[in-house]
Amino acid sequence: MSHLNETLMQALEGLVGKAGLIRDTGLMQSYLSDWRNAYRGKAAVVVRPASTQEVSQVVRLCQEAGVALVPQGGNTGLCGGSIPDDSGTQVVLSLTRMNAIRAIDQANETITVEAGVILQRLQEAAADVGRLFPLSLGAEGSCTVGGNLATNAGGTAVLRYGNMRDLTLGLEVVLADGRIWDGLRGLRKDNTGYDLKHLFIGSEGTLGIITAAVLKLYPAVRSLTTAWVALPDPQAAVDLISRMRSQCGDRLTGFELMSRQSVEFVLQHVAGCNDPFKEHHPWYVLIELSDTLVDAALAQMLESCLSEAFEQGEALDAVVASNEMQVAALWALREGISEAQNHEGPSLKHDISIPVSSIPAFIEETDLRLLDAFPDVRIVAYGHVGDGNLHYNISKPVGTEDAPFKAQAEAIMHVIYEATVAFAGSISAEHGLGQAKRDAALRYKSALELEMMRTLKQALDPSGLMNPGKVL
Ligand code: FAD
Ligand code: MLT
Ligand code: ZN
Repeated sequence: MSHLNETLMQALEGLVGKAGLIRDTGLMQSYLSDWRNAYRGKAAVVVRPASTQEVSQVVRLCQEAGVALVPQGGNTGLCGGSIPDDSGTQVVLSLTRMNAIRAIDQANETITVEAGVILQRLQEAAADVGRLFPLSLGAEGSCTVGGNLATNAGGTAVLRYGNMRDLTLGLEVVLADGRIWDGLRGLRKDNTGYDLKHLFIGSEGTLGIITAAVLKLYPAVRSLTTAWVALPDPQAAVDLISRMRSQCGDRLTGFELMSRQSVEFVLQHVAGCNDPFKEHHPWYVLIELSDTLVDAALAQMLESCLSEAFEQGEALDAVVASNEMQVAALWALREGISEAQNHEGPSLKHDISIPVSSIPAFIEETDLRLLDAFPDVRIVAYGHVGDGNLHYNISKPVGTEDAPFKAQAEAIMHVIYEATVAFAGSISAEHGLGQAKRDAALRYKSALELEMMRTLKQALDPSGLMNPGKVL
């Protein structure tokens, strides 16, 4: 049911047309809950502007009417950041119709895209001109550039290319009062005062609406080697990545760690996935080496690192993919974890980061503490180990109801976050805070950091209408 006054509704429709407005409650549903169905809200209306000018005018109208806006891209975020509250008064501002690739400047190695472009389409547009756009994550077929920027997304290639912040040169942003900031500069050097784009990257829609970006392109990959390696423990992963980094340098473009439990879920729930080994092993890593040279000697490099790893007892078994299908099959085992975990009932996601060197001790101590307090929960630990980023996720005990597990969520989270902070880590490595981790961040960030964040929020969104209830 809509709580928005009819005059504003008419004005919005006048702006974006019937195709740009969703008022029907049934049609709105996919915009009102997240991928895991962990968050659900209500909205007065979903507005889908098709240009920066339209976004600007929608924001202006809502600002004048005192109506809060919730920006949304592909709605694949994992912290409830793109979901409105349950008041039914907020407007969901979907950027998905703003999906143009505006320009490619090959000599400058840049691409200018609108916020609603799907990440996979951006990767394909780069490939079409013999370039690479390196951001890569499991949701790349649905998430948008705007969402990637607003969450400062990470994924599986951060090790070599950095996160979304590192890949961005310029932004176009509609400010909370509707003015358009044209910061679409394709410059690798620009020291003219504060670097304002960085305020909006990672701000999860709380400071403004990102409408377009200038992003960096890289040379296309022309040689690739992918391996699946069984390990005795997380320490072996830390030793192996250090060995591989020193021997392969920038050619090491992927290094993903997975516990047996994580892989077990994928084998159970994702069709077509098979265990590359006959025996079960406690841990695995997926390793990718790549090079811009044709026929780079990657296989030899990998073999040399792995044979040393076998000698040192770091590796227990290994398979190397020998064709594209096998490469895809290995990545499916890794990328399928999120989906597979959904089949096991409610999950608690802890997207934490700690120094890479502390990962083994963190896992050992936190496993012990957690299982001591909650003996039957299932720990689904995996992640981008080269970035110190663990998805230390928890699934409910086998054969139990959801409710008792959900009732323990806060206490479970507390154990994990206390351990994270004790290891000098962060409670959000790449997914952001959204509504899921807002309160935890208020506990763990220093008073001075919170004061600076509130000062920025107040300066850029004095009426507090940009995605309220998220981040701060
Ligand atoms: P949404 O979910 O729509 O929005 C996310 C946040 O950004 C919200 O706060 C929203 O208000 C804000 N927002 C969206 N668009 C704009 C805009 N134009 N202007 C301002 N604010 C905006 N994330 C990783 O970092 N690494 C991973 O490896 C990873 N793997 C994933 C795997 C799976 C299977 C899934 C489902 C998710 C994964 N994610 C991962 C999380 C998610 O895909 C990313 O956070 C992604 O960047 C979100 O993009 P989106 O377009 O779906 O944003
Ligand atoms: C991933 O890397 O697969 C996601 O970021 C983690 C998750 O879904 O929890
Ligand atoms: Zn991740």
